[in-house]
Amino acid sequence: MFPKDFTWGVATSSYQIEGAAYEDGKGKSIWDTFCEEPGRVNNSDNGLVANDHYHRYPEDVALMKSVGAKAYRFSISWPRLFPNGDQVREERGFAFYHKLLDELDAAGIEPVLTLYHWDLPQALQDKGGWANRDIVKAFEYYAQEVAKEFGARVKRFSPINEPWVVSWLGYGMGVHAPGIQDIGQAVAASHHTVMAHNAALRAIKSIAPTALVGPVLNQAMPDVDDVFDPEQMQAAKVMDAQQNLFWMEGIFRGEYPQLIWDIYGDHLKKVVQPGDLDVAENDWLGINFYFNSRIGHKVPKDHFSRARVIDQLMDYAVEGQSMGPLTDMGWPVTPYGIGDLLVRWTREYGAQVPQMFITENGCAYEVGPDTSGQVHDTDRISYLNDHLLSVADAIARGADVGGYFQWSLMDNFEWAEGYSKRFGIVYVDFDTQERIPKESAKFYSKVIETQGANLTRRQTLVS
Ligand code: NOJ
Repeated sequence: MFPKDFTWGVATSSYQIEGAAYEDGKGKSIWDTFCEEPGRVNNSDNGLVANDHYHRYPEDVALMKSVGAKAYRFSISWPRLFPNGDQVREERGFAFYHKLLDELDAAGIEPVLTLYHWDLPQALQDKGGWANRDIVKAFEYYAQEVAKEFGARVKRFSPINEPWVVSWLGYGMGVHAPGIQDIGQAVAASHHTVMAHNAALRAIKSIAPTALVGPVLNQAMPDVDDVFDPEQMQAAKVMDAQQNLFWMEGIFRGEYPQLIWDIYGDHLKKVVQPGDLDVAENDWLGINFYFNSRIGHKVPKDHFSRARVIDQLMDYAVEGQSMGPLTDMGWPVTPYGIGDLLVRWTREYGAQVPQMFITENGCAYEVGPDTSGQVHDTDRISYLNDHLLSVADAIARGADVGGYFQWSLMDNFEWAEGYSKRFGIVYVDFDTQERIPKESAKFYSKVIETQGANLTRRQTLVS
């Protein structure tokens, strides 16, 4: 069902698990700041301690090993290496990631390193962050130093996790750090993430020529209620261009789609300069998939308490509530979407798209230990089962998929939702830091052990 050399992994990110926010010289990140601002994060949670992974990493690597993971996707905290986002190093930060890599080495787990999973040094945000073109140079330098330090130990690198989220949730809707609501800044940030990706890729490869570098994009297909409604179809095109094609075309073809120029107008013209989009050669494409976006009927704009990005780009809003069961994030369960994306890029991009990896996929469900200490997260097992079957189907239909990373190894700090949303296959008691593998961890172990032979087809996959 899955190729023999398929990479089975688990994923986390620095701010979500490390804690030790000010230890060993780490600088302040935009998430440290954001969490201090009242009303930004659910329950006023923060990443000061998180999963205390900074001190408990040996236990966490042992957990990965016990699950049978072959690879671990994690991120490096930029302000741990360069507290002020400049060129002044903090050696204790570098030492921490060497110790983590030692532990992974000893466990026989392949590291997959993300350079940026949202914890920007606050000092760089003070200069405008991703909305300021200077970020490209700063990121290029950081990438070069990471490659010099870890290039001999790590093969697979990804510069920026989910550039759409970085740009639009951070600078457009303001629900993530740095909490800005400004379409111009969001468009500028979007463009700068493409440039920074390309610059980082070239920097890494100039130092570690055998490194495998690729983008990690959060993608979704639009599910349109009524395909005969021209307004819904237009909304679907905008959503697709805005979330998917901006980065797919920008990174793999060196241009933005015409629809993007139409809807972003002067915001984009102001920031794009000749040569900005020169294509760099990517070795892989990472896709983070959680759910498809539902496009429904036209509704009055004030229908939503918080206008969504897509609504700001058009003169009306679309109904986005989905039918069917939702996860704790309020997200619909649309397993067909993950396979559709894999098949779509294979068909639409051909040789222009390199081997694909699912770099994140998972769901939040609030299930804790029962009286015997077991965590029966059966909804998560169904979710994983159905999404993995959809990936297997895409492979059977010709998609080249190199691996799958489950999000997440353990419950952790879910950004603006704080600790209230549990994505882990391992339960974490945030009072005691006890880790308890859930039933889904055992299920995933079996998937890895049997190459998916334990997956079961059910009758519920109706789109
Ligand atoms: C994608 C992000 O990369 C990750 O940090 C987050 O926790 C998951 N989505 C779930 O929302």
